[in-house]
Amino acid sequence: MQVGLIGAGNMARALARGWGDPVLCADPVAGRAHSLAAEVGGQALDSNPEVAQRADVVVLCHKPAQLEDVAGEIGGTAKAVVSILGGRTLADLEAAYPDTPVARLMPNTAVEVNKGVITYARGARVDDDLHASLQDLLGRLGHVIEVDEHLIDVATGLNGVAPAYLALFVEAWVDAGVKHGLPPALASELAVESAAGAIALLAAHQGDTLGVRRAVTSPGGVTAAGLAALERRELRAALLDAMDAVMTKLGR
Ligand SMILES: NC(=O)c1ccc[n+]([C@@H]2O[C@H](COP(=O)([O-])OP(=O)(O)OC[C@H]3O[C@@H](n4cnc5c(N)ncnc54)[C@H](OP(=O)(O)O)[C@@H]3O)[C@@H](O)[C@H]2O)c1
Repeated sequence: MQVGLIGAGNMARALARGWGDPVLCADPVAGRAHSLAAEVGGQALDSNPEVAQRADVVVLCHKPAQLEDVAGEIGGTAKAVVSILGGRTLADLEAAYPDTPVARLMPNTAVEVNKGVITYARGARVDDDLHASLQDLLGRLGHVIEVDEHLIDVATGLNGVAPAYLALFVEAWVDAGVKHGLPPALASELAVESAAGAIALLAAHQGDTLGVRRAVTSPGGVTAAGLAALERRELRAALLDAMDAVMTKLGR
């Protein structure tokens, strides 16, 4: 299935790296499309309609506000459209592409290392063959979860933002280690590897956060002291506020 990318920014690059196949792409900044095609193979084309003509499926990787303008260019040409545009609903997409099968997804940048988490909502015009092909294509990027479309926005507050939230958490954690004398490279290795191991442990325990926490928290011990400090600084409240901010930004 030949993929065409409309826009060659951060998310397009992450998707293309994850697939590792030649892509067709176009971007207003031609150099961006050329460097992406040079990296993963394929071709940077001069215009969005050329991408749509030659691709089996077009992935919209431009900004959400550009939906209607881009649809005006490629609406009659694209054979199938997959959108990653934050906050743009299937109804918006199907109105912009009235004659085309459309699916809506929300990936995260971990697709680059085939560890993405992708929520997927199938549009009404996506037939079973296309659905199966998209599942295969997306499955190569990580973990695909088909959800009711109305859940994609709130899910974005978990999967879409996850690389940024975890990066911030790890960065602050490393700085704390450095403050107390760890060399930065060692602090970074400890934090990244420990975070990866802890996530694997949580997955092995079916997301049982309480069980995993209890197993490492001796009464009156070191971990209990650290957790109490995090609770005092209202980590939970900060995450609630962050989710509220995401929903506000998405207009929900
Ligand atoms: N970044 C994430 O983690 C993430 C996660 C999930 C979904 N998304 C969604 O992915 C989309 C892209 O996000 P991003 O972070 O990759 O943004 P980005 O880095 O700014 O990439 C968007 C690219 O699209 C180009 N573009 C603008 N107008 C275009 C047009 N008419 N035709 C073709 N390309 C056009 C932009 O060029 P200019 O810079 O010249 O405008 C830019 O190179 C957004 O809709 C976002 O909601 C992002």
